Amino acid sequence: MNHSLYDKLQVLEPAGQAMDREERLSAAGRPLLSWYHQHRRILPWRENPEPYRVWISEIMLQQTRVEAVKPYFDRFMEALPGVEALGEVSEDRLLKLWEGLGYYSRARNLKKAAELLVEKYGGKLPSSYEELKALPGIGSYTAGAIASIAFQIPVPAVDGNVLRVISRLTGSMEDITKQSVKRDMEELIKGVMPKEDPGSYNQALIEAGAIVCVPNGAPLCGSCPLFSLCVARQKDLTGVIPVKAPKKERRTEHRTILILTKDGHVAIRKRDDTGLLASLYELPGLEGRISQEQIKETLGVKEAKITPLPEAKHIFSHVEWHMTGYRVELTEVPKGDYLWVTPEEIKKTYSLPGAFKAYTKLIR
Ligand code: ADE
Repeated sequence: MNHSLYDKLQVLEPAGQAMDREERLSAAGRPLLSWYHQHRRILPWRENPEPYRVWISEIMLQQTRVEAVKPYFDRFMEALPGVEALGEVSEDRLLKLWEGLGYYSRARNLKKAAELLVEKYGGKLPSSYEELKALPGIGSYTAGAIASIAFQIPVPAVDGNVLRVISRLTGSMEDITKQSVKRDMEELIKGVMPKEDPGSYNQALIEAGAIVCVPNGAPLCGSCPLFSLCVARQKDLTGVIPVKAPKKERRTEHRTILILTKDGHVAIRKRDDTGLLASLYELPGLEGRISQEQIKETLGVKEAKITPLPEAKHIFSHVEWHMTGYRVELTEVPKGDYLWVTPEEIKKTYSLPGAFKAYTKLIR
């Protein structure tokens, strides 16, 4: 993917005069687009950018890598090929399709938005940025991505990739975790983005951030179409820019997860309708590390065959679960409100979040 000297010479900045950031971003447009047309990845939603497909892909791509999204996207499109099917799907079926992708409120918002689209827009996505942004689950980035990629409307779509690319290009030392910095970058882009093919322009910025100006580790400046224009590269600041305020530390929670079995069935239950993994099914769990005696006491049973299971860890954005687990084979009905399902039904019908994967795979 290395660029020829010719490519680099095309984007050398004028000697002896400093460019301001508008000029720099403006000068980046042509080389960036030409690079995009040569080097972009072929992705299912890119080759056929219908509004529904762009919408679903952009929601899936929030906080999730392209490679992880691909199989989910294809499956989703096959199961729910349009807005109406999405509006009508049952929550359990929808969550089963989303199982393992995480951030499940994204799926619920998709369904809510689809219902609204059927009600208000005849089952089609509106093409204006403002109307898109008013839909559940759609913020400024996603509204910009759908409007520009599916409807060719020249509005910016600033995600983490774009924040990184443009901060480096312009040598900005601003903290990119600030909303004000994102809004400022949206304004900057709006002023210089081409009116022709804005969808490719936005995707070129995103793509450069994903595969050249990479999020983790050193950027691949030797392959970058903005090599000569990039202030962070010129000043050897790619290790410093983008500037990000340190994240709050994650708290750790200890949990004991139970595979309760009785007569060939396994107990699952619904989580609270607020907070972490809201309203999703889960394997029963208890706070803390619980002894085998305490398990029997909590379940209110005299006898149970209890076998320890391996420890496991799951990392959410703000919390880390450190889990111990037990298989509890019961002959009496335990205390608690459970749904008793077969292992087959767990595979096919009920969705258990990825956080429980270390234990769901041990269900038999
Ligand atoms: N990440 C977010 N949106 C994307 C897109 N349209 N293409 C590739 N990666 C993305």
